[in-house]
Amino acid sequence: MSDKAILEINGSKHEFPLVRGTENETAINIKTLRSDTGGITTIDPGYKNTGACESSITFLDGEKGILRYRGYSIEELAEKADFLEVVYLLIFGNLPTQEQLDKFHTDIKAKSIVDDDVKKILDAFPKTAHPMGVLSSLTSALTAFNPTSVNVDSEEDMYNTVVKILGKFPVLVAWTMRKKQGLPLDYGDNSLGYVENVLKMMFRKPNEEYVQNEILVNALDKLLILHADHEQNCSTSTVRIVGSSHAGLFASLSAGISALWGPLHGGANQAVLEMLEAIKADDGDTKKYMAKAKDKNDSFRLMGFGHRVYKNFDPRARIIKKAADEVLGDLGVEDPILDIAKGLEKEALEDQYFVDRKLYPNVDFYSGIIYRAMGIPTEMFTVMFALGRLPGWIAQWREMRLRKEPIGRPRQMYIGETLREFKSINKR
Ligand code: SDX
Repeated sequence: MSDKAILEINGSKHEFPLVRGTENETAINIKTLRSDTGGITTIDPGYKNTGACESSITFLDGEKGILRYRGYSIEELAEKADFLEVVYLLIFGNLPTQEQLDKFHTDIKAKSIVDDDVKKILDAFPKTAHPMGVLSSLTSALTAFNPTSVNVDSEEDMYNTVVKILGKFPVLVAWTMRKKQGLPLDYGDNSLGYVENVLKMMFRKPNEEYVQNEILVNALDKLLILHADHEQNCSTSTVRIVGSSHAGLFASLSAGISALWGPLHGGANQAVLEMLEAIKADDGDTKKYMAKAKDKNDSFRLMGFGHRVYKNFDPRARIIKKAADEVLGDLGVEDPILDIAKGLEKEALEDQYFVDRKLYPNVDFYSGIIYRAMGIPTEMFTVMFALGRLPGWIAQWREMRLRKEPIGRPRQMYIGETLREFKSINKR
């Protein structure tokens, strides 16, 4: 196979090296394009054909529906690992020994207290504030209370910053939910596992003993693993480009949370439930919503369907769909929304518009049904996505820092006015 690409422009030929990854992906390295051709660049809206970096963290094959974290298949990790193991794997590159995992968890627990003054920032938000906006603000605010977190050139400070955010983020997630519910803001319990602690912080009532429910623990553990990383998606690319200016980790994560909030990205899990609720309220008329999704004059999209990369089933959706049946069954929850979702999926998979465009259910299509059965409010669904994606964002940010990647600064094609003279206002 050739090791170079040849571009012919206006009669001149330019050679660019082909680079290959460990999974035989091939890319054209165009880093000398502009200098070799006297200023010619590329245009690729949405970066559909453009690789931003080389990475060793996550591999996915959209055509084959393959997803692996550091070489381990998502199916095996969802089945056999727990979330904290996957956090360690994504960030440090290998599955931890028991000793490494215990030390990692100890370091996280030691840094899980959030400065009480952060509550004053939380108090400034109206109860109607969307939790993603609150979470993004509180995450950025952590910088003010942890000034060494901006030392992006010190591996020791970077490690301390990583364990701080892994300890404090679940507290911020719980506080964000409890604030809206008018419940006291407290801390977890360091005697518990990572996911058990998250559930206790979120759901403990001040006047009752909190009793763990293994079904909820296992369901959340699996959901967090399935959301943990997904190579250069919109929010991860945001975290990387903000971090590429040497901004601190918390500021970079805050930007990633804001990107994830969008309904085309992580916000889709909330939008899916709202769509399914609307269909239920419309006598389950899925055909009406399918028609809206195909109508070019209607901005409505079938939320939870389609994907920039997966042109086959999203492997996570397959696992979550199976888990939805199991969790609702174990919890004894009868949710007509699940039946509507399955009916909609069946219709879409048989509809030529969706088949032609390879639109399959994605990670967001079924996840909200499980969150709802767990008693998590719809507005908190994307916050749960962020909690899962946190280790992926951290791992990608750390990889970008350790590889000393350059500041991200894309080019553009100017299509505006050419030079014109200023006219005083009385002559316009
Ligand atoms: C996530 O990138 C990641 O990895 C993201 C993620 C992660 O883990 O980080 O996997 C998480 O964000 C999953 C996606 C969640 N979003 C949704 O479910 C929102 C609904 N889906 C879309 O809006 C859409 O499918 C995207 C945004 C996910 C992907 O959009 P693309 O790749 O830019 O595709 P496109 O908009 O160019 O669509 C191609 C065609 C268009 O029709 P034509 O112009 O060719 O006629 O497909 C149509 C689109 O109109 N289309 C849809 C559709 N999604 C695409 N039509 C109806 N309903 C949809 N959901």
